[in-house]
Amino acid sequence: MDEESKLSRKTVLKAAIAAGVAAPVALIGGPALARTTVANGQAPELTPACDDGDDPTPPQTEGPYFKPNSPQRTSLVTPNTQGTRLTVSGYVFGLGCLPIARALLDFWQADVNGAYDNVGYTFRGHQFTNDQGAFSLSTIVPGLYPGRTRHIHVKVQAPGRPVLTTQLYFPNEPRNNTDSIFDPRLLMTVRDQPPGKQAAFDFVLNVPQTPTSTSRPTSTTPTTSTSTSNPPGGTTWAAGTGYSAGARVTYSGRGYVCLQAHTAQPGWEPPSTPALWRAE
Ligand SMILES: [Fe+2]
Repeated sequence: MDEESKLSRKTVLKAAIAAGVAAPVALIGGPALARTTVANGQAPELTPACDDGDDPTPPQTEGPYFKPNSPQRTSLVTPNTQGTRLTVSGYVFGLGCLPIARALLDFWQADVNGAYDNVGYTFRGHQFTNDQGAFSLSTIVPGLYPGRTRHIHVKVQAPGRPVLTTQLYFPNEPRNNTDSIFDPRLLMTVRDQPPGKQAAFDFVLNVPQTPTSTSRPTSTTPTTSTSTSNPPGGTTWAAGTGYSAGARVTYSGRGYVCLQAHTAQPGWEPPSTPALWRAE
């Protein structure tokens, strides 16, 4: 049952005004990608943050909840997955228009019926950008659920920076105009690529960069080699090690608990990655 009518007129009006004000003229021809401004030498616009979208959802519906500890994978589909195949790809940039390597992206979305898997990890997965700052996600076009327009949730984090929680949207969706969370700056470019669809979006994170910066992580070399003692509760953090949620490590003499299974990489030391490690 369509429950959009539960949205108040005020909410709808607010969304319409916001969309009208925020939508640049360029959107008429499709959303602009940050890489375009990068190519033109212009300063990129920050990717806006959204809330998680829970609030407008009627409480009797299954809520769109983020779950930590998603699997590390770039494909959320199997041969038996129902739905229109969708590839979402793009780059993660910083303020200096430079790509950010090994940025963490954690995606979650509804299935073809508009339902989230709150028991398992179907349509949930995290990945890291490659050396060029690029990411690619193989999934399906998410189904609609009451009160929201079509969207994909994502958390994005550069090493040592705060987590950006936001959502990606699809152009030409009727509900875009009535969803108070919708933001046209988060529209993907989407084109048909039979039998599925291909979408693109570039994130711009609030990460200072100088023109001479490289895309490499800015963190210093891990100091694990200098840690000779392991306080109770964990081994010394080491790049290349696979950690599961709940694992305990020490780093520079401090204890951390793993929040999300991942393989440790240089640049993702525990003090730099609040999405992965919580200090004890
Ligand atoms: Fe959602």
